[in-house]
Order: sequence, then structure tokens, then C-alpha cells
Amino acid sequence: MRRLARWAGRIGVAGLALATPLTLAAEPYAWPIPDWMPAPPVPDDNPMSAAKVELGRHLFYDARLSADGTVACVSCHVQDRAFTDGRAVPIGINGTPGIRNAPGLANVGYLPRLTWANPHMTSLEFQALMPLFGDNPDEMGNNGQEAALFARLAADPYYQTAFPAAFPDRPAPDLFTVTRALAAFQRSLISVNSPYDRFKYAGEDDALSEAAKRGEQLFFDHRFECYHCHSGIHFTDNLQTSRSAFAETGFHNTGLYNTDGAGAYPADNTGLMELTGDPADMGKFRTPSLRNVALTAPYFHDGSAETLADVLDHYRAGGRRIATGPHAGNGAQSPLRDGMIIGNTATEAEAADIIAFLESLTDDSFLTNPAYADPWPADHPAVADRILP
Ligand code: HEC
Ligand code: HEC
Repeated sequence: MRRLARWAGRIGVAGLALATPLTLAAEPYAWPIPDWMPAPPVPDDNPMSAAKVELGRHLFYDARLSADGTVACVSCHVQDRAFTDGRAVPIGINGTPGIRNAPGLANVGYLPRLTWANPHMTSLEFQALMPLFGDNPDEMGNNGQEAALFARLAADPYYQTAFPAAFPDRPAPDLFTVTRALAAFQRSLISVNSPYDRFKYAGEDDALSEAAKRGEQLFFDHRFECYHCHSGIHFTDNLQTSRSAFAETGFHNTGLYNTDGAGAYPADNTGLMELTGDPADMGKFRTPSLRNVALTAPYFHDGSAETLADVLDHYRAGGRRIATGPHAGNGAQSPLRDGMIIGNTATEAEAADIIAFLESLTDDSFLTNPAYADPWPADHPAVADRILP
């Protein structure tokens, strides 16, 4: 983290160090969003432009962003899985296993805090440093090899015109431009056209099945309390739009784990406490959005639940009880468990209805939108050696 903060100083991320005002390409960018939805906030030093978003898309899919040309962002964030990878934890450069489950990127521009449990990760520009240069775990492996990375990109004919178009005043690939183009592309990843949206916001009564309508009632019922944390337009209490007066940032301990008798908490599951140092933050993680959740299995910060039915079993029991295996323990007895994780008496039929509701949050147009798809031809060096999950 400390090393990332030093990098942040060098790219001039606002809030962490000097923010250099620059005049950037002012081509208009049209948000793909309906009237009822405010746009995500955009930092003053990284205005959206069509050229920048398109450059960011090429970078997102380009494995030359990794030290050995095998790992691109798409290696862990695949469009038709709502930009997750289907694994419990991802695999980075040289087969390095990750620590946390790869989150989806739908509507990621609305999240005021990025990643599962880092309260300091406040911008997409800053976050991009983590896969590019982070080494715990190694994802793209460029730590100490920045010059080679930017030289590879500068040699590409597409980038020789795309960087100047996106950044007329600073036309070369460098930390500033690469992180900003990636951020602009990710801010453009908007998913608000699920059957539930059409039912709820566009008045299409038959867009939802009867089971999903019953599931919606249960989701918003006090018996289940789901909506307390999975609240608002993206079903999370982590939200900031261009119209928000303040950012909502919810982290909760949902009773997945507990300390052993001696007071130790399972490694890699300490959550928010890892960075705040506050024992009350033990086991707290950011509430994930539930949009497209039917496609983002396995679930939770460590990918420890295989299916939505497993997730509902966990909430039914008011915390997780597992007798043996890597996730063994009795999270339901954790004194740190959030007061809203109360357990419930859902019948099998009610659980099926809640799952039907969660499935109605799948937005097919997002998963197939060509504006978010791989732009490179199959035999291009950007993708020739690229590993996909
Ligand atoms: C090796 C797999 C891997 C690669 C490659 C990778 N990511 Fe990720 N990504 C992850 C994981 C795992 C997390 C969650 C990390 C955490 O919470 O500690 C994550 C989190 C994110 C987040 C935060 C999402 C959220 O909901 O908070 C963004 C944004 C993101 N990645 C963008 C990118 C971009 C851009 C690239 C390419 C430059 C990239 N990722 C490459 C695995 C990967
Ligand atoms: C106290 C706040 C809270 C309540 C109440 C709550 N959740 Fe969650 N939910 C979370 C948090 C936090 C996580 C992430 C936990 C983790 O990974 O450690 C999560 C994870 C999930 C996931 C997995 C998503 C993913 O991408 O991995 C699903 C699905 C889910 N919740 C559905 C529900 C449903 C359905 C209910 C009601 C029965 C509910 N939640 C109630 C806070 C809450």
C-alpha cells in the first residue's frame, strides 16, 4: 500500500498528491444511461471523451500490459461474466494465485471505495496501479519494469495515434495517460437494462416473472433485511453519483468467519481491519452490488460460496457454520457479526423466489454490448499470447 501511494504521487492522483490540471481532448462523450439514472462522478482531471474511452478499451484487452505478454485485465474480468473470471480467486502472471475473488466491473464508476476492503482505494485511476504494479499478489508483474511497459505500448501503431487523440497535451503512454484511459473506459461500463429495471423504472409489468416479483417483496422485507445493505439503485450501500452530496461507504461483517478459541481470525479474512487497524473492523467487507450477480459465481470476498443457494443458506443460518474444510468455523457465533445478519426462516420456495429476483438483475445488453468488447483482431500481438480464464 505504501509503495502504491508513492506511485500515486507520480501519476498525480487527486487527494494523494498534486493534481496537475491538463487540457484533455474534449470530444463529447454520451453516457449510455436512461433519464432516471444520474451519471457516475468524474474527476476534474480526467474528463470523459470518446477517444479516451476507446483507448482505455484497447488497453483493457491488451496483454502487453503485463511483463510477459500473457495477462490482460480481461484475464480476470470477462465481459460475458459481467467482468468476473468464474474462479474463487484469480490467477495472475506466472500462474500466481490471487487472494481475493475478482469483482465484476458493472457500474464500477459509482463505487466510492474500490476493492473488497480497502478504505483508501478511492479512484479508478489509483486502482489501476494495483494490477499493473502490485506484487502481493503479482497480477501483471510490472513492478520495476515501467520503462519497458511504456516502450512496448509506444511502439504500437494503433497507440501512436490513439494516445495523441485521447491526450493531445500529453500524447505518450505513461503512468498518467494509461491509468486515466483505463479509468475512463471502466466508468463507461454501465449496466441498467435488466428485466428488473424495465419492470421497475420503465413500467414494463411483464418484464418480470411472478416468482421474481415475489422474490422482490421478500428481498425488501424485514424478515430478510437484504435491502439494508444491498440498497439503492445498485443494491449496495456503496454509492456515489454525480448528484450525491456525500459518498455512502458500507462495510459489514456478515458472519462468514469467527475467531478460533485463542482469538485468532483466519488469515486473509480480516477485511477492513487489515488497513484500519481497528479490531471492530475485523471481518468487515464492502457490500457488493447485486447487478448481474447470477453470472458472478463463486461468491464472497474469497469465492467461498459456490451458488446463490449457498449464499442464501448462509443468511438463513445468520452466519456460516461449516464443520470441515478450508472455510470451517462458526461465523454465526462471531461477536462482530452485523446486527442485520439475524438469520431467517426462508422456506425452499421463498429461497427460490429470492433467487428468481436476483436472476432478474442480469442485463443481457451489458454482457453483449460491442462498446465493451475486445477490439483487437485475433492474431494481433496484443492478444496472441493472452490467457483467458
Ligand atoms: C490476476 C487477476 C486480475 C487482473 C489481471 C486484473 N484484476 Fe482487477 N481485480 C482482481 C481482483 C482479485 C480484485 C479484487 C482485489 C481486492 O479486493 O483486494 C480486482 C479488483 C478490481 C477493481 C475494483 C472493482 C471493485 O468492485 O471494487 C477494478 C476497477 C479492477 N480490478 C480493474 C482492473 C483493471 C483495469 C485491470 C487491468 C489493468 C485489472 N483489474 C486486472 C483481479 C485482477
Ligand atoms: C449487514 C449487511 C448485509 C445484509 C443484511 C445482507 N447482505 Fe448480502 N452481502 C453483504 C456483504 C458485506 C457481502 C460481502 C461479504 C463478503 O464477501 O465477505 C454480501 C454478499 C452477498 C452476496 C454475494 C455477492 C458477490 O458478488 O459475491 C449475495 C448474493 C448477497 N450478499 C445477497 C444477499 C441477500 C439475498 C440478503 C438477504 C437475505 C443479503 N445479502 C443481506 C452485506 C449484507
